[in-house]
Amino acid sequence: MGANSSDRAVLSDTIDPMHRDDEDPSVEIVAREDFSDLTFLLEFRHPMMAKAAKPGQFVIVIPLEHGERIPLTIADFDRDKGTITLVVQAVGKTTKEMQQTCRTGTTLFSVVGPMGEPSHIGDAGKVICVGGGLGAAPVFPQARAFKENGAYVIGVIGFRNKDLVFWEDKFRKYCDEFIICSDDGSVGIKGLVTDGIKAAMEKHDDIDEVIAIGPPIMMKACAETTRPNAIKTTVSLNPIMVDGTGMCGGCRVKVGERMQFACVDGPDFDGHQVDFDDLMSRLKRFSEEEKLATERWSEACRAGKVS
Ligand code: FAD
Ligand code: FES
Ligand code: MG
Repeated sequence: MGANSSDRAVLSDTIDPMHRDDEDPSVEIVAREDFSDLTFLLEFRHPMMAKAAKPGQFVIVIPLEHGERIPLTIADFDRDKGTITLVVQAVGKTTKEMQQTCRTGTTLFSVVGPMGEPSHIGDAGKVICVGGGLGAAPVFPQARAFKENGAYVIGVIGFRNKDLVFWEDKFRKYCDEFIICSDDGSVGIKGLVTDGIKAAMEKHDDIDEVIAIGPPIMMKACAETTRPNAIKTTVSLNPIMVDGTGMCGGCRVKVGERMQFACVDGPDFDGHQVDFDDLMSRLKRFSEEEKLATERWSEACRAGKVS
């Protein structure tokens, strides 16, 4: 249930330049931390948004004036400090530009949110929260919320190698059991997050729900791992989003017999019902344009035309 849809309208109205031109819509970045040469954390100040944010929601960011809108998950929020935390992976033009320009003390041109339906933190007694790579960040607020709701929380986090691991301490604080998986065995168990899920399922036959966030191929594999045991499996989908309000149709996903818009109906869905192959093919549909945009931006950087 979108309990805070009215809050959302107010917040969007306050900070979205499309609605109000009498206020500065920019938000100040108050902290940055680099986790690897591709992944970095940004914390920005927005007390109203921090007050309204719930696990599972996201924001739409326009990092620089004339830039594109990109969705980013709220990886953490601090109501006392009035801040929101994002964890970003530099994969293309906009996120690479953010990696270069977003520093403590600079501003993001515009941030709208919180968007999307909050995750349903029900009364599950035992859950596995799974994050693959960057997906560790968005699954964290859910792990914390389940723990605060009294659930027994098993964290399963997967990275390519030990140098890419982040937020281990944050997870350990809220997880009753914590399993790290790495592709090369440099940390935790050698294997994929699905191996971590299997290990947890072998030890516990009373798991109520699995929450899995990461690349679509990983979420698909997690859903297939739990399907034989019919364990409820919730995934957070990441289709291409433009407006984030259900207007453009860009984020259409197939879930069972129904078409859903991930921005307003999700982003959380039943992983056993999601058509992941459709999602993966739709994610590639602008790859030529994205490649060109990145090449042009890299060339402009080399020529010193952008700072
Ligand atoms: P591009 O070169 O333009 O695109 C690279 C790939 O990113 C594309 O092939 C496509 O698969 C995807 N992508 C491109 N544009 C969009 C778009 N408008 N919406 C969604 N995907 C797009 N990334 C993070 O790093 N951290 C997050 O917390 C995060 N949370 C997300 C939450 C949601 C609900 C969604 C839908 C996506 C999230 N993403 C997150 C993905 C992020 O939005 C894309 O990586 C980003 O838009 C890529 O932009 P780019 O210009 O750097 O790369
Ligand atoms: Fe436009 Fe969802 S992003 S409909
Ligand atoms: Mg882009």
